[in-house]
Amino acid sequence: MTSTPKQKVAVIGGGGNVGASTAFALIAKGVPAEVLIVDLSEQAALGQALDISDASFTMPGTCRQASFQEAGQADVIIITAGARQKPNEPRSNLIDRNYTIIKSIMDSLQPIKSTSKILLISNPVDVLTHIAQTTSGLPRAQVIGSGTYLDSGRLRNALSDITGVSPTSIHAYMLGEHGDNQFTGWSSARIGGLPLLDHPKLKGMDLESINQRIAHKAYEIIEAKGSTYYGIGMCAAIIAEALLNNTSQVFPLTHYVEGLGCYMSWPAAIGSSGVEQSFDVKLDAAETKKLEVAVKAIKEVCAKYN
Ligand SMILES: NC(=O)c1ccc[n+]([C@@H]2O[C@H](COP(=O)([O-])OP(=O)(O)OC[C@H]3O[C@@H](n4cnc5c(N)ncnc54)[C@H](O)[C@@H]3O)[C@@H](O)[C@H]2O)c1
Repeated sequence: MTSTPKQKVAVIGGGGNVGASTAFALIAKGVPAEVLIVDLSEQAALGQALDISDASFTMPGTCRQASFQEAGQADVIIITAGARQKPNEPRSNLIDRNYTIIKSIMDSLQPIKSTSKILLISNPVDVLTHIAQTTSGLPRAQVIGSGTYLDSGRLRNALSDITGVSPTSIHAYMLGEHGDNQFTGWSSARIGGLPLLDHPKLKGMDLESINQRIAHKAYEIIEAKGSTYYGIGMCAAIIAEALLNNTSQVFPLTHYVEGLGCYMSWPAAIGSSGVEQSFDVKLDAAETKKLEVAVKAIKEVCAKYN
């Protein structure tokens, strides 16, 4: 029998598609953690845990079903529970349904270990991160959301196709809101140390159409197969690994941005204490306007759900 890893990652909503993909990605990436699957549907949690544990036999991680109380003591608590978008439904529509679910989960997890980090995935993720922080009692730095990390990955893949450069060497972010108000930070994007827009393959391209394609990719996937889960599952596992291993990597994530006075998706370095640094991205005038729209939209919804 193998020994149980010391670090624990709980996935609340792990009986569903996004939660199970996250748990599977943690195991398949070789993250040496005990993955705890929790779901309102105990049967779904059990089924996913048993299936994913079958994938762990050559890996350092393990996977099992667990209770909300056990999950409250995990090092990283990932929340994927809740309603998902129907075809053509904006993420913002989910707030009424998912507000109640997130509040009840935070109650069920109590007492939450004081050093835990909570990672929100459920949508609308920026607003739900704010709600999770206020209802969990944890400090702001320890409650984050996946924000526009997935969207930024989509952007980097698209730019890789255009430029022929690896997505890992393209430093470009979707920013603001993981929703219809997200925008591309073109003016801050870099490739090989050069401004991205100086790359010859980007000259004369319709940048707004690239932006729209990225912002609407989730709708395209939902239309074709009902929901999205592999991409976000991998993103959640990468973020959890950075928190567990104290890597201080920079991701565009939902966190509290002091200068803007709200939770929103913005580049931050994260480690074992949660958010370590938030970066002041330079924007041009058009991007600043888009940022203002995103901040206003997030603040308006947060004000209703305080
Ligand atoms: N942030 C992102 O980039 C991103 C990407 C894709 C999906 N999502 C979001 O992830 C969420 C889940 O999507 P999905 O496709 O996995 O849905 P799903 O229906 O497959 O799974 C949701 C799971 O949540 C569980 N659940 C509901 N209430 C619960 C509670 N109170 N406690 C514990 N478990 C509970 C359900 O039993 C179900 O197993 C949605 O809100 C979706 O919009 C976010």
